[in-house]
Amino acid sequence: MRTDAQVTVGKALDVLRLIDDRNGSTHLLRIHDDAIDAADLRKVRATPDSQGLASFDPGFVNTAACRSAITFIDGDRGVLEYRGYPIEQIAGRCSFLEVAFLLINGELPGPELHEWEASIASVATLPEVVYEVIQRMPHTAHPMNVLAAVVALLGGVYPEARDRAQAETRKLNGNRLIAQVPLIAALVYRNHQGLPFVESDPSLGYTGNFINMMFAGHGLTHDHPDIHSAIETLLVLHADHEQNCSTNVLRGIASADADPYISVSGAMGGLSGPLHGGANEAVLKMLHEIGSVDRVPDFIAHVKAGDQRLMGFGHRVYKNFDPRGVIVKESTDKVFAVTGINPLLEVAIQLERSALADEYFISRKLYPNVDFYSGLVYEAIGLPADMFTVMFAVARTAGWIAHWLEFEVDPDKKIARPRQLFTGSPRRDLPATHAPA
Ligand code: ACO
Repeated sequence: MRTDAQVTVGKALDVLRLIDDRNGSTHLLRIHDDAIDAADLRKVRATPDSQGLASFDPGFVNTAACRSAITFIDGDRGVLEYRGYPIEQIAGRCSFLEVAFLLINGELPGPELHEWEASIASVATLPEVVYEVIQRMPHTAHPMNVLAAVVALLGGVYPEARDRAQAETRKLNGNRLIAQVPLIAALVYRNHQGLPFVESDPSLGYTGNFINMMFAGHGLTHDHPDIHSAIETLLVLHADHEQNCSTNVLRGIASADADPYISVSGAMGGLSGPLHGGANEAVLKMLHEIGSVDRVPDFIAHVKAGDQRLMGFGHRVYKNFDPRGVIVKESTDKVFAVTGINPLLEVAIQLERSALADEYFISRKLYPNVDFYSGLVYEAIGLPADMFTVMFAVARTAGWIAHWLEFEVDPDKKIARPRQLFTGSPRRDLPATHAPA
């Protein structure tokens, strides 16, 4: 809800008049920013001893859980803005660290950019225990599980992070997370592949260091400027997306005053699911299973029959197009010019074409999301599919930190504690077999 888009109404209209037909009572609920305070609903009681009206909203389809000034989305118009700047202008023109600064501070860095880059570089080294833990992890462990575990562990390495009252402490630990998550991601990847670790070299820049730690000596085309710029663009596109599943998890954990490492680790858990960040991995799996263009109609028929979902399609908020998906699709050409065309591209294009012309998808407003094409890019660069969500997590760490910092000073901050509609047994006594001794 954006205040400048808010309909300005006269004072008398800033109230919702609610008539409860159960007992004929009338209630006036204050409206602000196009929302009512859900707590006001509790005043609406059918009987004096009832707990009051609640709104039932599994999945939070229409519940604002916070005020936030970071990212704005208009799903019907396919609009995504970071601090007011359209994603189409940011992608390809701003570096990832500029975007991280923007998300956190509200403005693009001017001369502060150098200082910001230096402050991130100054904490871009990992404690020894991280190397030891990752090396002990089985190569078969999913990289997202290892990443989330190691990020939680950092909270033990930096116990002062629990002192969230100090702005400087919050800033330092936020910076550490932005600087160290890519380093951990690279170690996780190399352990997963059975490759020797590459030391962090912050002089290569944020993205350069990350790419080097991931791919150095690995015979890939990563050092090509177009590949570098495609990775930077994907990081920027994934940097934030307002109150998505993982950010909501982060805010939920942080609402209990947990430290930022365990909060980000929990958010990574949410991100790993195939309905969220894990979709990019699931898309690739799906494309491999389909295998060839002639099998697309059969696959679409299965989706329509409800046997499976078309992964990389649909979005809770975007009901027109996902502007990030459009940018990723455009960047595939540049990447494939370097790597050679991913043979699954044809299958993806045919799937998209078929779905966009099919009443099932049209009527449900299902369009390709950011992850429909991102996996093809990552695969062309040489990444295994189970690393795709790790790349997403590296990017989203910037957004999570922006939200965490915003939340920590939010006067509305409260421990997350939703209500439930109880569907269990009424009170009853234990059977005689459990009589007191
Ligand atoms: N394939 C087939 N049908 C779908 C799909 C899909 N990808 N997505 C939604 N639908 C159908 C549902 O079956 C439902 O149909 P019905 O009305 O006949 O029951 C209808 O569309 C609405 O679906 P919901 O699940 O209610 O939509 P919701 O907003 O809750 O879900 C979600 C959004 C989870 C993204 C969903 O579209 C999905 O599962 N997509 C595939 C996974 C994916 O790509 N996730 C990545 C999202 S982007 C991101 O997180 C980075």
